Amino acid sequence: MDKKIVLITGGTGLIGTQLSKLLFDKGCQVRILSRSKNNKKNNNYHYYAWNVPKKEIDIAALKNVHYVIHLAGVGIAENRWTATRKKQIIDSRVDSALLLLEKLQQINHRPLKFIAASGIGFYGAVTSDTIFTEKDPNYDDFLGNTCKVWEQSSLKFEESGIKTTILRTGIVLSKEGGALEKLRQTFKLRFAAALGNGQQYMPWIHITDLCQLYLHAIEDTAFIGIYNAVTSEHVTNYEFTKALVKQHKNAVQIPNIPSMILKIVLGTMSEMVLQGSRVSSKKLEDAGFKFRYNTLKKALEDLIG
Ligand SMILES: NC(=O)c1ccc[n+]([C@@H]2O[C@H](COP(=O)([O-])OP(=O)(O)OC[C@H]3O[C@@H](n4cnc5c(N)ncnc54)[C@H](OP(=O)(O)O)[C@@H]3O)[C@@H](O)[C@H]2O)c1
Repeated sequence: MDKKIVLITGGTGLIGTQLSKLLFDKGCQVRILSRSKNNKKNNNYHYYAWNVPKKEIDIAALKNVHYVIHLAGVGIAENRWTATRKKQIIDSRVDSALLLLEKLQQINHRPLKFIAASGIGFYGAVTSDTIFTEKDPNYDDFLGNTCKVWEQSSLKFEESGIKTTILRTGIVLSKEGGALEKLRQTFKLRFAAALGNGQQYMPWIHITDLCQLYLHAIEDTAFIGIYNAVTSEHVTNYEFTKALVKQHKNAVQIPNIPSMILKIVLGTMSEMVLQGSRVSSKKLEDAGFKFRYNTLKKALEDLIG
């Protein structure tokens, strides 16, 4: 094959930005589908616009594309989960996937693979003794049901004969934003505290490993189906906070922030940070994927140290 052409929806976001760079450096032609062409940030990439509610896509984005990576979606942890926000969270992921498929079918083009994000929220906001695997069903709560319909929309590509990989992603650790930035905000005040009872698990993955996984999905045709994109090390929120404190010499760990306060501040979204179970990375490792950052210590040394 000549140059691989990869289209990334939501390629301007946290994961998309680092992934675009990796793919460009690997010699791919990177196309980014964004709600606004004004989001153009880098001359190395080709930018195209779409408008999901209006069912519009610049068709040039899809022509001859080999791989479609679907990352677009309204931020899940950015605003309180009102009914309107919940609908936006779902529609921006599901309607966008369905629109992509519809437009690909209209131009009669079948990419080699569709690779989509999903989240470990699939297993629900619950703290339990279970180590969840890809065979477990979704949990019946907002995130569990959102991830289910999100994945179902991605699986429509598979039903139409396009190889499909879904990465059920844990908390992505990056220097550039996301959860780690939010967790580190209190360090400016030189303290850190675990949330609630601190016993909830926080399945995580370093952004470098996640981007390598997307590359792996492009390079390995047999890497299809659903995979938990999390590192094998299981850490609780308390352990995570302790590890962060170690990286900030001037910070101290203060008593946990009570659940009640988080519920008042975040509303139902507090479930996301107050609950969490372990998630297995075995299927990924059995598929031959090697993590560069397999312990939180290594990951934080790289990102903060
Ligand atoms: N980061 C994590 O910890 C994490 C964990 C698990 C799963 N994920 C999932 O992985 C995907 C990428 O994550 P990320 O952290 O890179 O997200 P992000 O930084 O929020 O970027 C997502 C991108 O989606 C696009 N977008 C936002 N609202 C949209 C809408 N209404 N319609 C269409 N596109 C919209 C935006 O691109 P434009 O402004 O250019 O349109 C944005 O840059 C998301 O689906 C996320 O839920 C992330």
